[in-house]
Amino acid sequence: MTTPAATVQVHPFHHADTGTWSYVVADSATRQAAIIDPVLDFDARGGRISHAFAQKLLDCVNEQQLQVRWLLETHAHADHLTAAQWLGARLPDALIAIGHGIREVQRTFAPVFELDPETAADSFDCLFNDDDEFAVGMARAVAIPVPGHTRDSLAYLVGDALFTGDSLFMPDAGTARCDFPGGDAAMLFRSIQRLYELPESTRVFVCHDYGKPASDGKGREPACETTIGEQKRNNIHVREHTSEAEFIALREARDAILAAPALIIPSLQVNLRAGALPVAAPNGIRYLRIPLDQF
Ligand SMILES: [Fe+2]
Repeated sequence: MTTPAATVQVHPFHHADTGTWSYVVADSATRQAAIIDPVLDFDARGGRISHAFAQKLLDCVNEQQLQVRWLLETHAHADHLTAAQWLGARLPDALIAIGHGIREVQRTFAPVFELDPETAADSFDCLFNDDDEFAVGMARAVAIPVPGHTRDSLAYLVGDALFTGDSLFMPDAGTARCDFPGGDAAMLFRSIQRLYELPESTRVFVCHDYGKPASDGKGREPACETTIGEQKRNNIHVREHTSEAEFIALREARDAILAAPALIIPSLQVNLRAGALPVAAPNGIRYLRIPLDQF
């Protein structure tokens, strides 16, 4: 039996290089857990991968004696590589899951990365349909579709904790960009309206935060937690009464001046295949490729 509003324990981990928050989410009654958006360290200058950050997640799992059942991706990220495969190899009870919209994202990028969309979809253990329910121990979990940033974007509600992925950021940071292929500001607005129907006390955990520089007088360290009520009152891009037209105008003006994420090319190559690294060449070396003039 699952409990709709069970309080789950949330252990946040900030990946400073990419401003990403990864989470270990646990039901304390059963010690079953999920890991959300785990980051793989990648040094683009040296082409080096390491697992120091993912190891911290694993250390938390071991210290808390958790049984991880899910490795959840909110979407195919374009700003960091996922550690889902590496963790999956060490957590045999865990399924790697993402939204069914990943198929569309894979089809979009298949030509540029010479990806076979069928085998790529199989690299995930589970593709959630909209509003699919699952359990983390006694806590009820729901895969809530939040397309707009990307077509495959999901938010995960686990007990009373909502993991927004790239939809809502902290109230003073606003919302995620909508200018990637398949992105759509109107769609994101509607996705956020759906999140705003949740109880105001719902705890909200964001996927990214970079903090604020002290120079603007409102400096703060990176943060990860807020509530639906706080978002509705104070989100700088979309409050309770913001109109769709207002949001679209603001979002599109902002997206027009954003540069491509620094790690978009390596991230997509790895993340579209659930974190599987490229197969080694005959010389035993793995290569990531850089398509020219495609992004
Ligand atoms: Fe993203």
